[in-house]
Amino acid sequence: MLIRNLILQISKTGYQIARPFIFLQSAQSAHEQTLKLLNILDKTPVSFLRLVHTLTFRHMPVTVGKVDLPHPFILAAGFVKGLGFETEQQALRAVRDGVNIIPGWRAIPGLVGAVEFGSFTRYPRVGNSGTVIWRDSASQSTQNRVGLKNPGAVAAAAFLYQNRKSCPKQFGINIAPSPGVDDPVDVVEAIGAFLSRGIRPSWFTLNLSCPNTEDDPENRQTETLTKALCGAAMDYLNEQVAGSIPLWVKISPNLSYSQLDVLMKVFHDLGIAAVIATNTLTQPIPDNATIQGGVGGGKLYPYALSTVAKLAKIKQEKNYPIDIIACGGIQDPLTYIAYAQHGVKAYQYWSALVYRGPLAAALILNEI
Ligand SMILES: Cc1cc2nc3c(=O)[nH]c(=O)nc-3n(C[C@H](O)[C@H](O)[C@H](O)COP(=O)(O)O)c2cc1C
Repeated sequence: MLIRNLILQISKTGYQIARPFIFLQSAQSAHEQTLKLLNILDKTPVSFLRLVHTLTFRHMPVTVGKVDLPHPFILAAGFVKGLGFETEQQALRAVRDGVNIIPGWRAIPGLVGAVEFGSFTRYPRVGNSGTVIWRDSASQSTQNRVGLKNPGAVAAAAFLYQNRKSCPKQFGINIAPSPGVDDPVDVVEAIGAFLSRGIRPSWFTLNLSCPNTEDDPENRQTETLTKALCGAAMDYLNEQVAGSIPLWVKISPNLSYSQLDVLMKVFHDLGIAAVIATNTLTQPIPDNATIQGGVGGGKLYPYALSTVAKLAKIKQEKNYPIDIIACGGIQDPLTYIAYAQHGVKAYQYWSALVYRGPLAAALILNEI
């Protein structure tokens, strides 16, 4: 306890000093530098990072979405998501050439514990060009229009298989339906890419809510399409692994009560284990009011909290055994507790890394 407090105090003060210097760079450049650093860290033994993890994260075991976690924090999708490629062939060639196509895959779980890798789509994507990440310090927010840049499910699976001996004990894989593709075969093949190579994550998440692509995010969350996508993924998981890997879903922050009511029934009927609320909020990007990007952090928080409150009400009224995982602006004990009051047992975070540093989750856990 004494050691934990000491290390966390050093980390907190160190990051408070470093942050103004880090923020001299653009968010995009800081993110790129971080990925370069992770690339180096992934090559080193992670025993030191694991030790820091053990010493700093309070043990607060929780079972959520049929997964046992040592503490209730999971790093959200989008941080450890991999490089973009034009084609599957190029991505697979990079794997064969020993390129680290998923920077952070080893170092980040060593330091923070459970991580949701991805989003991965069936085929690789290069994502959007130009500036794609911003921060707004006043509101402790981030904004991005990365546009689902990723190496594709097949290469990601091949990479994890190649590194299977060092794969983290616990991780999730977030699958996003390919933008513009409604055929459920797309997500089944993406999940299959991992299972067929023996990659067994602790959970899969189906990202029904990906903004920042040419896709209309709300399209994915109609009753019909949600049923088709989640139904196909569940059937496939039942068939391949007898349901031993749970399916979670991730939804948007701007859905109405009646939309959520419909979705929760679909999730319940299909046996979805957890719903992550929420993905980012679509808003115009700072440099161009005609282009949209996904906002996370402080600005997202009221929308995500309101979504969680609605989901919790529906869950309670209908007695659905689906867990709600909060995601949106969790950066301190107040935001944590606000979600906990709605029965939330686990939390995903991304922007907290930017504003509170790499041990953000350990700090929040220690402060509550
Ligand atoms: C740069 C960036 C990339 C992201 N990419 C993804 C992604 O690929 N898939 C996904 O489900 N969420 C993605 N997200 C959203 C986060 O997982 C999370 O839902 C969102 O940032 C809200 O959490 P926060 O308020 O703690 O930041 C991304 C977020 C950021 C900032």
